[in-house]
Formats: sequence, structure tokens, C-alpha cells
Amino acid sequence: MQNFDYQTPTRLIFGKGVIAKLPEVMAQFGPKILLTYGGGSIKKIGLYQQVHELLKDFEIIELSGIQPNPKYDPSVLDGVRLCKEHKIDVILSVGGGSVLDCSKAIAAGACYDGDPWDLISYKVKAQAALPIVDIITLAATGSEYDCGGVISRTETNDKIGYLDRHLFPHTSFLDPTYTFTVSRKQTAAGIADAMNHTMEQYFAEDTTLLNDGFCESMLRSLMVNGRKCLENPEDYTARAEMMLACTYGCNGILSLGNSYSGWPCHGIEHALSAYYDITHGEGLAIITPRWMKHILNEHTLPRFVKYGINVFGIDATLPEREIAEKAIDATYAFFESIHIPMHLREVGIDDSRLDEMAHHIAINEGLDQAYAPLTEADIKAILVDSL
Ligand code: NZQ
Ligand code: ZN
Repeated sequence: MQNFDYQTPTRLIFGKGVIAKLPEVMAQFGPKILLTYGGGSIKKIGLYQQVHELLKDFEIIELSGIQPNPKYDPSVLDGVRLCKEHKIDVILSVGGGSVLDCSKAIAAGACYDGDPWDLISYKVKAQAALPIVDIITLAATGSEYDCGGVISRTETNDKIGYLDRHLFPHTSFLDPTYTFTVSRKQTAAGIADAMNHTMEQYFAEDTTLLNDGFCESMLRSLMVNGRKCLENPEDYTARAEMMLACTYGCNGILSLGNSYSGWPCHGIEHALSAYYDITHGEGLAIITPRWMKHILNEHTLPRFVKYGINVFGIDATLPEREIAEKAIDATYAFFESIHIPMHLREVGIDDSRLDEMAHHIAINEGLDQAYAPLTEADIKAILVDSL
């Protein structure tokens, strides 16, 4: 077991109706709020109106239109400008992971005098960030409980996971009823995203019985409850358990003491969504089983055997290689069963830029250091297999 130094300062307020505590939480910071949101889903579900009603004694400046795969230009730059112009005290992010990720980059940029890209690209270390409170409306990324934000810069095809301890939300409100309206497509993508966050930590060295059990339980819970959410979008119990499972995905709690795995599927997917602006969870679902097939060897076999038996209930008396292959097939079959498009061509990606993307991933994502190291040729092979 590796040494670690771990702290998650975020307050989680979970359950139906918890938004009633919003004024009390916001009052800790000062009167000026930057309210960030996306393309309008929060207006359709009445949350926008509810927030304004609850915060009528505060001064609210708005940044709307934050897109999925949030963009540096204009969203991050506009948000930073608004924070500086209006001397904002706190950011309130209302929406999915994209709105929250963008808000995190804005929070850091607002406390920095230079170009915010210096921070996102790790040229300069942030010294401070504005406090962030969020109301998460889509279960997927775990951004509500971690210190990362993923920002895209269209002109350079960059999609960078920007991590900094200053970016933990101060408080996250998680009301599962807000996720009742999430579409089938986004619900399925959320299931795949959170499952992959778990797998990225499960397929690693120095794992423990404790972490393995946590991960296996996460995966089973996400499959069972995810399916229930798709069958009945207003199943509170299923939406609630899915929401909590997603929240655990990215803040490291599933892998304390493990060696770092390199998060290879994310490294590959971030390039896909940077080049083609696809839905993150769908990209992951397509890549994951192909990556698994590619890295299955004598060294990784025991992990796949454990995964197959404990997550999918595959017969433990079968030959090990057969268990592993069945586990990979079951992974593919699950994603297919929740109607995720399972080929790159189905999400608009053909073979014309695979070389370019494989090169971009190989030089930017450090996957040669991953649990199962990947060369540029390996990455290309996984992409070709995913077509
Ligand atoms: O823009 P609006 O109108 O709000 O619509 C959104 C958007 O179109 C809609 N939506 C959100 N809540 C809804 C809803 N529709 C109906 N009812 C609701 N309650 O869903 C669409 C997708 O939203 P988005 O925020 O993009 O989805 P998600 O939460 O999956 O976030 C994806 C982004 O997070 C990054 C991804 O790369 C991607 O950019 N990630 C962030 C991570 C992190 N911070 O830790 C880790 C992840 O691995 C991931 O990379
Ligand atoms: Zn993800």
C-alpha cells in the first residue's frame, strides 16, 4: 500500500428539498454571486426560478450558455471578466459537470492577474480561487466532490483536466429529483462515465481488498440503479443511489493507497471530445472494452478475473482466460444494453484523424506510465478497433 495525504473539504448536502439551505450557505461569503449555468435545462425544471427566489437578498450576476465540454473561449474568459468587473464574492454553479468545471476554472482565473490559460495549462500554480457552491443536476462526473475541471480550447484541440486543491467546491447540493429530467442519452452517458472512473482506479497496482470491494460495489450499484433510472426516470431511490455513486467517482477515495493507474481511457477520450465534441461518457463506453482487450495479458489477467467474478458473477471455476474474456464481453454488452452507440463512426468519428489523435494523446497524456503502458501504436490500435 502506497503512502497518501488526503483531504476533501467539500460539504455535501444531499436529498430532496435540501435547497432550502441555500441562503444560509451563501450568506457565508458576501452579497455578490456569479450564477453560472448552461443552455436552459435549469429553467425548464424550475430550478433557476427557485434559486432567484431563495437568493432575492443577494446581488446576482449571470453567466449562461456554458456548453457541454466547456470552452475556454468564451465561457471561462467571460466568467473571469465578470468576476473581476463585479468583484464577485462566490460562484454558484447550477447544472451538470460542464457548468461546474467551467466555474472552477473561472474561480481560479478570477484570482489571477494574467491569462487564465497559464493556470489551466499548469504554467502557473494558482495561489487562490473564489469559493464555489454548486447545485448539481446531472449524475456523472463527480465534479461536485473533486478539485478538477476539464476545459476545452477549440483552436488547439486541447481538452485539459485542470486539477488544483483550491478548486474543491465549498458546498455541493445534491437533490436527486433534479436529475429526473436528464435524457436517456445523458443518463446512460453518466452511468458509463462513473463506471469508467471506477475502472480507472480498479485496474492499478497495489490495490487492496478494501478498495477493490468499494470499486466492485460501485460498479454493481451503477449498473443496477442506472438501469432502473432508464426504465423509470422518476425512481427516486435509484436516482439517489446513482447520484451518490457518481459523487465518489473522481475524488480519489476509491484508490487511496493504490499506485496511480494513469487513467488511460480518460486520456484517450479527452482527445476524442476535444477533436469532435462528442459526449464524454459515450466516448468512454466505446473505448473501455477495446482498451481492456488490448491490455489483457499475463500480468493483467488476475485483475480481469477478479473483475469478472465479483462484478459480473462469472463462474469462478472456468479457465482464467475465459473468465477475463467473458468479463470484457459483459462490459461491452452492458453499455450496448443501455443503448450507448458503441462505435466511433456512430458518434461521427471516422478514420481521417486517428493518427493525429493518437500522436496528440501519446505526447500529452503520459500513458506510457499507465498501469498497462500504452505507446502511440497501442493508442492507434485501440482507436482503430473502436471505429
Ligand atoms: O446545458 P443545459 O441546458 O444545462 O443541458 C445539459 C447538457 O446539454 C443537460 N442537463 C444537465 N442537467 C440536466 C440536463 N438536462 C435535463 N435535465 C437536467 N437536470 O445535459 C447535457 C450535458 O451536460 P454536461 O454538464 O455536459 O454533462 P456531464 O455532467 O456529463 O459533464 C461532462 C463534462 O465533464 C467532464 C467531461 O469531460 C465533460 O466535459 N468531466 C469532468 C470531470 C471532473 N470534473 O471531475 C471528470 C470526468 O471524467 C469528465 O472528464
Ligand atoms: Zn469521466
